[in-house]
Amino acid sequence: MSTPDAKLSQTLAALGLHSAEQVGGLFAELRARFDAEVAAITDEESFKALRDRWLGRKAGLFTLLTDNWLKPATPELKRAVGAALNELRGHVDKEIAAHRSALEAGSEIAAAAKQRTDLSLPGVIRPIGTRHLIRQVFEEIEDIFFSIGFSVVEGPEIETPYYNFEALNIPEYHPVRDDMDTFYLELPKGAPGPLLLRTHTSPVQIHTMEKRQPPVRVIVPGKVYRRDNPDATHSFVFHQIEGLAVDQDITFCDFTGTIDYFVKRFFGESVKTRFRPSYFPFTEPSVEFDVSCVFCGGSGSTKSGGTCGKCKGSGWIELFGAGMVDPTVYGFVKYDPKKVSGFAFGIGIDRLAMLKYGIDDIQVFFQNDVRFLKQFP
Ligand code: FA5
Repeated sequence: MSTPDAKLSQTLAALGLHSAEQVGGLFAELRARFDAEVAAITDEESFKALRDRWLGRKAGLFTLLTDNWLKPATPELKRAVGAALNELRGHVDKEIAAHRSALEAGSEIAAAAKQRTDLSLPGVIRPIGTRHLIRQVFEEIEDIFFSIGFSVVEGPEIETPYYNFEALNIPEYHPVRDDMDTFYLELPKGAPGPLLLRTHTSPVQIHTMEKRQPPVRVIVPGKVYRRDNPDATHSFVFHQIEGLAVDQDITFCDFTGTIDYFVKRFFGESVKTRFRPSYFPFTEPSVEFDVSCVFCGGSGSTKSGGTCGKCKGSGWIELFGAGMVDPTVYGFVKYDPKKVSGFAFGIGIDRLAMLKYGIDDIQVFFQNDVRFLKQFP
């Protein structure tokens, strides 16, 4: 079938055909032949061969038909031959166009499939992040307290005033509430409330003591919120770790020993620590805990003889508040204050991290600037 058969090289007269019916029969034969060839197309190569065989300009079947059958046809037959030729051409063109589209679509799919499975292409490399410095400090502190028998508990960030204030011995009109002003939630009408974002991790002391009987030794890492204006040392969201130890016969010495152990493991053996009297409604006595300035080594002055800007020349930096649990608090959780005693502390993690890593603006913890984050892989 690759070469036109003998009939196509001869004129209709030479073939002995003189009527329109005879011509129709001949074209019907050709159409059947074309259809059979189309059905045999298997790939692009066989498609192109068929296309060239039928439509090729120099020796294609249509060129031969035109030259040998149409042009030399008698005036009586020309009309019938022309019509049959056009009809066949229309059919052939349509079929060839349809097969071309199908083959192109197929080759696109094949190409896409090939691309998908090209294992030699380099992979997409996405940079892997690191734990945020605050998270690293949390974990460092957790490890230190794990080593002396504390475990981690967590509590809700949305609290009732009872847990955030009242059960911690801060009644409604206590002036301490002014320092811990916070964000109250807008609640739908009729919903039980009010609810607020916790101002410290201390409410988890109450949740824990409600659920557990002494001995209790827990630390509570988490976010807290206050309506403080942002500056270099204040943020309206920051992080604390609460500590609580309650048992029989826990003394002030256990308390100072625990804190001293923690600070020396966190900042190094060479730091000195001290307590100053302070006030929290839920601890009695209450203290502020200071550490010798890690920037000037506690001297209060810089190497060049100036005043140390970090501790303002005092040689000490305030670290956190703490104290022995006030017996009134035990009343809220149904512990017997005559049988148990304990201590609690609340460490501001952001400021602790700033001290340890020499960071002078708390806001960098919340800005997510990759240049900052990358410094703490
Ligand atoms: C308290 O929050 C007490 N709950 C701590 C406590 C717990 C005392 C248990 C006794 C017993 P205070 O308000 O001082 O205390 O906050 C504790 C620490 O949070 C501060 O020392 C400071 O490091 C940090 N802090 C307070 N306000 C901010 C703020 N706006 N931005 C960043 N850190 C803050």
